[in-house]
Amino acid sequence: MASVVEVHEELGSTQERARELAHAGKPHGTLVVAEIQTGGRGRLGRHWGSPKGGLWMSLVLRPGFDASLAPRITQTAAVGVAKALWEVGVDARIKWPNDLLAGGKKICGILAESSAGYVTQAVMGKPLDYVILGVGMNANLDPSGLGVHNREVTTIRSELGHEVDLLELLRALLSNLDAELGRIQDFRAVLEDWRNLNCTLGEKVRIRRFGETIEGRAVDLTAEGALLLSTPQGTVELFEGEVEHLKKGDETGGLLESGRT
Ligand code: BTN
Repeated sequence: MASVVEVHEELGSTQERARELAHAGKPHGTLVVAEIQTGGRGRLGRHWGSPKGGLWMSLVLRPGFDASLAPRITQTAAVGVAKALWEVGVDARIKWPNDLLAGGKKICGILAESSAGYVTQAVMGKPLDYVILGVGMNANLDPSGLGVHNREVTTIRSELGHEVDLLELLRALLSNLDAELGRIQDFRAVLEDWRNLNCTLGEKVRIRRFGETIEGRAVDLTAEGALLLSTPQGTVELFEGEVEHLKKGDETGGLLESGRT
């Protein structure tokens, strides 16, 4: 990791810059970090508030494996990011598929995009040239500075009560990502750690994907990292979706709005 490093005071999006570098042929491990992103992006093209104090970074990965293994990258990266957060003292939990929570609030988001688009089942069977792995870590910030609903997000500073050394955090991230991605072929072992670090399994959840909303209980991950959801209509296997953990009384029961956006 960090074979080539670019550090920017301000950038539109590290994700876009890393993609440019990937197209220019830069090697596996190329790292782009920005103190501020003016056009930070989350999943589904959403705005990602990226003021000074956060750790906004993207890595060019050239995984060297078949594209059929691409869906494993998000879960594998989530394990690495969770372990890095634990190393700096944050009790972080993985919310499937790509969020890290602390105290039930989002502290970090992961965005894995391949040469063929989002890293999902859709890219299987196509050659995998590169993956851009973006990590947005709410570090030395006030949650109110992130431009989202305060109750839904947290920061490392809020959780620890003090600032974190961003270089130490970056080192922890890179070494844990390197270690986890290095054993992606042994995905059973990665998933074992994922199960120990997650906060989704066992929860009642509402999932929105492709215009439908499904409710059920998250029961397990498949061998390839898809979420198994037990619903009144049977077990559903999901490779992506927006997950909401339901509190008691929130659930409406089963498949809600199939086919509607
Ligand atoms: C999400 O939870 O929706 C994923 C958020 C990913 C944000 C990071 S910040 C660094 C990189 N650059 C971007 O524009 N996005 C990712």
